[in-house]
Amino acid sequence: MPNTHVLAIDQGTTGSTAIVLDHDAAVAGRGYAEFPQHYPRPGWVEHDPRDIWRGSVEVAAAALAAAGVGAGDLAALGVTNQRETTVLWDRVTGEPVANAIVWQDRRTAPMCDALRERGLAETVKRKTGLILDAYFSGTKIAWLLENVEGLRKRAAAGEIAFGTVDSWLTFQLTGGQVHATDVTNASRTMIYDIRTGEWDDELLDELRIPREVLPSVRPSAYVYGETDPDAFLGAAVPVAGLVGDQQAALFAQGCFEPGQVKNTYGTGSFVLMNTGTQPVTDQDRLVTTVAATVAGEETQYALEGPMFVTGSAVQWLRDGLGIIANAAETEGLASSLSGNDDVYFVPALAGLGAPDWDPYARGTLLGLTRGTTRAHLARAVLESIAYSTRDVVTAMVSESGHAVPELRVDGGACANGFLMQFQADVLGVPVDVPENVETTSLGSAYLAGLATGFWSDRRDLTDRRRTARRYEPGMSEADRDARYARWREAVSRSLRWAAQD
Ligand SMILES: Nc1ncnc2c1ncn2[C@@H]1O[C@H](COP(=O)(O)OP(=O)(O)OP(=O)(O)O)[C@@H](O)[C@H]1O
Ligand SMILES: [Mg+2]
Repeated sequence: MPNTHVLAIDQGTTGSTAIVLDHDAAVAGRGYAEFPQHYPRPGWVEHDPRDIWRGSVEVAAAALAAAGVGAGDLAALGVTNQRETTVLWDRVTGEPVANAIVWQDRRTAPMCDALRERGLAETVKRKTGLILDAYFSGTKIAWLLENVEGLRKRAAAGEIAFGTVDSWLTFQLTGGQVHATDVTNASRTMIYDIRTGEWDDELLDELRIPREVLPSVRPSAYVYGETDPDAFLGAAVPVAGLVGDQQAALFAQGCFEPGQVKNTYGTGSFVLMNTGTQPVTDQDRLVTTVAATVAGEETQYALEGPMFVTGSAVQWLRDGLGIIANAAETEGLASSLSGNDDVYFVPALAGLGAPDWDPYARGTLLGLTRGTTRAHLARAVLESIAYSTRDVVTAMVSESGHAVPELRVDGGACANGFLMQFQADVLGVPVDVPENVETTSLGSAYLAGLATGFWSDRRDLTDRRRTARRYEPGMSEADRDARYARWREAVSRSLRWAAQD
């Protein structure tokens, strides 16, 4: 019997999702589970890699059960993942040597300062396309090698493997047979040259990372190996797509032409613009990254503006402040006001990413009066997501020379009508929400299916994208600019707050 379905595992920051697609690329089954977050110190964020692995298998099993198919019916498996998060493990036992350091973790900011003082920012930008920042994997690997007892020696002896989460899962899925990553994930490590497609010796030396720990780098759509039936639900399934979550979303949104842009509103938000086969590098506001690549095709690049805290600021209203019961409540609260009454929030809860890049910025709430209510806070948080997106899109337009005629959007917070309308208003362009906003999973499933010949034409897949809702801008230009100027003033007040520690 031919293999009838494709499975995607989307291993995110706060949870793992699995979807099963049939040959028409329709979702046949789905599984989801949250997993624990660890915050051992202010600014530190960790995951237990074993939770990530176990959770991924559980959601895969749940999705298959919901679809009524067995693992043996799968033509391919794709993995998409929270990027930059760094895992080191023992090659022989497969056991992690420490918790994973999550992309949001700021512990290596001082290390980045020291590298900057040594004049390395320009080299990092030129070779990797990235900003020298604690966000990326490089300094996280260096931190673990420096701080886990005995690790440097074991790494030099070839006993230790490094990987981002795609790589960790592939190692586990294949029963330790494959230690590899894809180009999109490699491009987030700060030790990978995005033009030559090689790990970079100069940066490895500067960070004292031995080559022995590194995975091999492959295209995103590529047959990496087969699952080990003992490790994965009793079946040998081709692991045929690895891709960072944001590049997966860019792919699934069908952004294949230079100038096409998407924004994913999840834990953080990530605007990516396809820039074609030439990397566009800017000075210091955005990062240049590799787009999802199919084996045998020329590498495509993207410009990216990562915003670290967006949906997670909504979660903070719920869990930190306890002023809402669920994320969706923010929509009604924000809409209950006719304006923001000059209350602004800067979501620098993990420093600021693009375009300001300040690991020492902290969350800031401005303009409070005796009349301020939780509705103002909810509104200010949602508005901050839209303003941050305008910051990034503005930088992108000026760096790339491409106009942005519309914004394709996806991710959990797309469900928020107030946010989407406000986004269209402050950008001055339409915002387009597709029917299926789980684009990260879709992207990795598409890539895995393309790599194995289960599907043959990517356009055929992405042409299935249907608009569910479209928001047209309604605000006057003068109004838009006046509010935006106020936002930039608020951002300036959040900068460098924690720099004295
Ligand atoms: N109606 C809503 N209004 C505002 N924010 C929302 C709404 N629904 C969900 N969110 C936010 O969206 C985020 C979840 O979206 P999504 O599931 O796409 O996240 P994610 O980034 O993919 O998660 P992960 O990082 O685990 O992959 C949460 O941070 C949540 O606060
Ligand atoms: Mg996600």
